[in-house]
Amino acid sequence: MDQTEEYMAGKVCVLTGGAGSVGLASARALLAAGARVFLVDRDAAALARAASSLHADPAHLATAAADVADSGQTRDYLGRAAARWARPIDFLFCNAGINGAIVPITEYPEDLFDAVMAVNVRGTFLALKYGLPLLADGASVLINASVVAVTADPGIAAYATSKHALVGLMRVAAKEAAARRIRVNVVAPGPIGNAFQADIERRLTQVVGRDATAMLDAAIPLGRHGTPEEIAQMVLFLASSRSSFCTGGVYLVDGGMHV
Ligand SMILES: NC(=O)c1ccc[n+]([C@@H]2O[C@H](COP(=O)([O-])OP(=O)(O)OC[C@H]3O[C@@H](n4cnc5c(N)ncnc54)[C@H](O)[C@@H]3O)[C@@H](O)[C@H]2O)c1
Repeated sequence: MDQTEEYMAGKVCVLTGGAGSVGLASARALLAAGARVFLVDRDAAALARAASSLHADPAHLATAAADVADSGQTRDYLGRAAARWARPIDFLFCNAGINGAIVPITEYPEDLFDAVMAVNVRGTFLALKYGLPLLADGASVLINASVVAVTADPGIAAYATSKHALVGLMRVAAKEAAARRIRVNVVAPGPIGNAFQADIERRLTQVVGRDATAMLDAAIPLGRHGTPEEIAQMVLFLASSRSSFCTGGVYLVDGGMHV
């Protein structure tokens, strides 16, 4: 095992949802470990801001604006990532996601259900379908699900269904890719103190009639939300050869919320 600080030196890492909170924290951790990072996001302006906030060596950072739910755009961003440093992809982080509505199933809008499934599930499926052939043997794939990949709460039918589905997709991919020593895992964060979660909690507060942030903290044994940096440490571990015997796993980073 490589014990040097730059244990991801030269590795090509593709991160979708790269302009967002977890994507950006993960990019920062990977760059610090010496990796080359290719950020993908559908929000081009946010992507440009995110890239410049990293203050990275331009030789180690590239971006592509793309919608992960679109097949052609997926093939395009993956092809550009593999071409950028003229070497196969070492780490693919399927992280882009949206959360949908907080309403009972009987009121859940059909189009919103489809939209959540399109980004969270179809987007990850497409990344695997077109990404696996571009990965190096021994590469790592990580899918960002959520604690609601293994638990559920009222009102989040599309989000919880999509995140459960990602565990099934990951398990299939882990078995299919193992012959090439490619590892495929899920990271399952609990509530993180960021804008994505604050938006959920603002709407949840209206639904339940009390402070959803405090309610969730009370449901987390460690008594608080996580930080994007705490998720990024698990991302870094699963990206690297330090997790060389880990595949097919669901790695909860949730302060014990699932227990
Ligand atoms: N924030 C939390 O508490 C939390 C908890 C568990 C899991 N997660 C998961 O972590 C992942 C990252 O979330 P985050 O908290 O960083 O939120 P975020 O909103 O900061 O980041 C998500 C990013 O994905 C991008 N994105 C959305 N749809 C896209 C598409 N179709 N194509 C390309 N990019 C797209 C957005 O533009 C955004 O930059 C998501 O999959 C989310 O479900 C978040």
